[in-house]
Amino acid sequence: MPVKWLLTLAVSFFCILPVTHSTAAGQQVTVCIQCHSALTPRLSDPVKLWQVSIHAERGIGCTACHGGDPLDSVQSMSTARGFRGVPIATALPALCGGCHSAITTYYMRSEHGRALGRGGPSCITCHGSHDIKKASPDLLGRKYCSQCHTFEKARLIRSAMLKRDSMLMGYENKIKNMKVQGIETGQLENQLHSLRGRFHAVFHSFDIELIIKESEQIQAELEKSIGAGGTGSGLSAGIVTVGSVLLGGLLFFLVRRMRIDA
Ligand code: HEC
Ligand code: HEC
Ligand code: HEC
Ligand code: HEC
Ligand code: HEC
Repeated sequence: MPVKWLLTLAVSFFCILPVTHSTAAGQQVTVCIQCHSALTPRLSDPVKLWQVSIHAERGIGCTACHGGDPLDSVQSMSTARGFRGVPIATALPALCGGCHSAITTYYMRSEHGRALGRGGPSCITCHGSHDIKKASPDLLGRKYCSQCHTFEKARLIRSAMLKRDSMLMGYENKIKNMKVQGIETGQLENQLHSLRGRFHAVFHSFDIELIIKESEQIQAELEKSIGAGGTGSGLSAGIVTVGSVLLGGLLFFLVRRMRIDA
């Protein structure tokens, strides 16, 4: 008898394991995930990739992009329940833009957005569709960006991004110091967060002149609120950095190209 009990216990432990595992990670177990996990690689890989993505972490499930009913295994993929199937490339700006609107606006105005459907990269060319991770300037790798054109401008844009990140870090530390001194910083933190978002959005234009122009505006706003409110204005040098990296690099790039063309 005790052996049978142990067996039952062991079996139910292994049956429960996968379920408790996914709920422990804060993910909702839906019929989409249950059924797809057991299918062929084409149909189950999306689940595996999605499970370690930032979307899974934030509770953005299959239906956010594919529609359908996550609770009814029979009707889950019926169009009557809003199932939309696999989105095509030209539908991605509207789909992703539903939640990432500022970024999508800049992307649509970019050469990439204008070339969508005619060889330009879509959101998922750079970010993937299921294994979406926290984004960083590392995404601008040579191997990646040189598939379609030279890497020169990508390199410029990446160094400007890195400059921007170290500048933002400077402001972040400044806020931390103010906090330590007992100064109320909640509002400044919110402002820094939203200005950081604007920076990430404008870089999606991949338009050097626009990035310089808007970066200067954003940096001026940062300097006005955080620089002035803090101790000293040692960061005013930051006003020129992002722009000057791009400007200097662009000149170098043009001069070199003139030499090659000549
Ligand atoms: C009972 C099993 C089952 C459930 C539940 C299920 N799917 Fe599927 N799904 C399949 C099978 C099987 C296919 C392959 C169908 C085919 O190739 O025609 C598929 C195909 C797909 C495709 C690809 C369609 C295409 O045109 O290639 C997507 C996207 C998809 N499912 C998403 C979902 C989402 C989202 C849910 C939940 C709302 C869901 N599925 C629920 C079994 C299931
Ligand atoms: C952020 C949006 C997004 C989410 C969330 C998402 N998908 Fe997808 N999915 C896509 C896009 C875009 C494509 C088409 C491009 C591609 O195949 O990568 C796709 C393609 C698919 C395909 C077709 C694969 C093929 O090669 O034919 C399946 C199946 C699928 N998804 C299932 C799922 C399941 C199951 C989930 C939830 C675990 C999910 N997706 C979550 C955006 C998403
Ligand atoms: C050519 C490659 C490329 C394309 C196309 C692209 N992105 Fe990005 N994306 C990046 C890079 C690089 C970063 C990191 C940006 C940074 O550090 O400013 C990023 C960052 C992001 C972020 C994080 C922003 C933040 O605040 O941290 C989101 C969200 C995002 N992209 C969504 C999208 C969407 C939606 C699309 C399509 C409309 C898209 N991306 C198209 C390369 C790309
Ligand atoms: C239903 C809303 C929703 C949809 C649709 C959606 N996302 Fe997201 N996405 C989020 C949320 C929420 C986060 C996590 C919070 C954040 O960082 O913005 C996120 C995070 C991201 C990030 C990482 C941001 C970072 O902080 O570095 C990228 C990149 C991204 N999404 C790209 C996409 C792409 C590409 C698509 C379309 C295929 C898409 N998203 C569709 C809601 C969505
Ligand atoms: C799928 C192909 C593809 C990929 C991958 C790609 N691009 Fe592009 N890119 C294009 C197309 C198409 C244009 C439009 C102009 C052209 O034809 O060169 C363009 C234009 C640009 C421009 C403006 C061109 C100029 O001379 O001002 C920049 C900057 C740029 N891409 C940067 C990048 C970066 C950075 C990456 C890597 C994250 C990248 N691209 C990845 C296809 C691509």
